Amino acid sequence: MISKSMQDALNRQISLEQYSAQLYLALSAHCEGKSFRGFAHWLRVQSGEETAHAVKLVDFLLDRGGKLELQVVPVPTAQLGGIIQVFEQVLAHERGNTAKINALFEQARAEKDYASEITLQWYVSEQVEEEATVSQIVDHLRAVGDQGGGIWYLDSKMGKRGKA
Ligand code: FEO
Repeated sequence: MISKSMQDALNRQISLEQYSAQLYLALSAHCEGKSFRGFAHWLRVQSGEETAHAVKLVDFLLDRGGKLELQVVPVPTAQLGGIIQVFEQVLAHERGNTAKINALFEQARAEKDYASEITLQWYVSEQVEEEATVSQIVDHLRAVGDQGGGIWYLDSKMGKRGKA
């Protein structure tokens, strides 16, 4: 049986993953509106991944006899500017999420909740991968700038991302 404190913390993280899905969906729509269909596609796939992250935690919570307590997911507060700004926001958001995951991991360890610790290990690794991927995208965007042919080349590359 999971502790009440870990149940509450996991419920908060489930909401955060859902917020991430909403944020990336909003950013995807913004890119689509600028005819950057590749960036839009990448963000749409990422939105789906965030939903999957939430559901994976829901399954874990229920397997442990916990109670799912859904919370209101806020409307995303994205700054809808150029593509560089969009992905800088994604990177900042993922860095914030990493801090939340690390705090959850620390809590599991402090409570000697080994099952949660093992499940959260996957999220720790996932954050390393996500931050590295988005950081590289931001580097490429900064290198080519918001104007010119380079950004359309990147857009076509981003459109090749497989479905989540
Ligand atoms: Fe669910 Fe982008 O981490």
